[in-house]
Amino acid sequence: MANDVHYFTEENSAEAVLARIIDPQNERLAEVMTSIIKHLHAVVKEVEPTYEEWETAIEFLTATGHMCDDRRQEFILLSDVLGVSMLVDAINTRRPTGATENTVLGPFHVAGVPNREHGDTISEDGLGEPLYVRGTVKDSDGNPVAGAIVDTWQASHDGFYDNQKPDEKPEHNLRGIFKTDEKGAFWYRAVKPAYYGIPNDGPVGKMLEGLGRDNMRPAHIHFIVSAPGFETVTTHLFDSQCPYLENDAVFGVKESLITDVELKDDPDMAASIKMENPFWAVDADFVLSPAS
Ligand code: BEZ
Ligand code: FE
Repeated sequence: MANDVHYFTEENSAEAVLARIIDPQNERLAEVMTSIIKHLHAVVKEVEPTYEEWETAIEFLTATGHMCDDRRQEFILLSDVLGVSMLVDAINTRRPTGATENTVLGPFHVAGVPNREHGDTISEDGLGEPLYVRGTVKDSDGNPVAGAIVDTWQASHDGFYDNQKPDEKPEHNLRGIFKTDEKGAFWYRAVKPAYYGIPNDGPVGKMLEGLGRDNMRPAHIHFIVSAPGFETVTTHLFDSQCPYLENDAVFGVKESLITDVELKDDPDMAASIKMENPFWAVDADFVLSPAS
């Protein structure tokens, strides 16, 4: 068929381009680009853009690139709001039923966070409503996984991560790394995270606005749970009472990750865990699947 295509026409456009891939050095690149070229030409044929519209598309991608720096990755944000990050994640984390599901990592994770002791607070500024997080890490047979690493980060009571507001928030506010005990347990103090808007001051925000789409993420706590011999889980727990559960801007919500955050009025317990009464409490229980 490649030999039949000589000159580019509107009808054979994709085939004309594909015919130039004859002896690729990189087979996977050729496979991926073949698919992209086919779908891209199909999109252009469906949309029939004007010159002005095509220029707008190029300007959008250019602005997306210009928005990126060490602290901001607008292309990842674009992939997130188009559901592509979640699709890539789903394809790469197919797990047996019962194992904790993955969800999107997001841009606010940082390395070099302090190791903390069970019972410590991860709130460096003490602002917000107190939240007690108590969790376990188990294998798929229900056996505790001792020594698992639980890396957690979350937004504050006003919906910002410390690295979004470095001048206002102490470094490592609402972040911590814990190691499970011999029963696979960990526990710590935090504050109730707020729902928040993903950055909307760039081209992605403008696109969402043009589409009449929300930029909100429902209230959640991030976790990366890892242990030797097991698949690492990158996930969130979502507050079941949050009004934005059904329209997460980045499609990160999975039913199995929705968890009740309960208000506890228990002065004795509050005193024993060094919290104000009443306080919020959430269970963070994870099931790891064996490494493949
Ligand atoms: C987050 O949950 O931190 C997040 C995820 C995707 C885009 C923006 C933020
Ligand atoms: Fe988040």
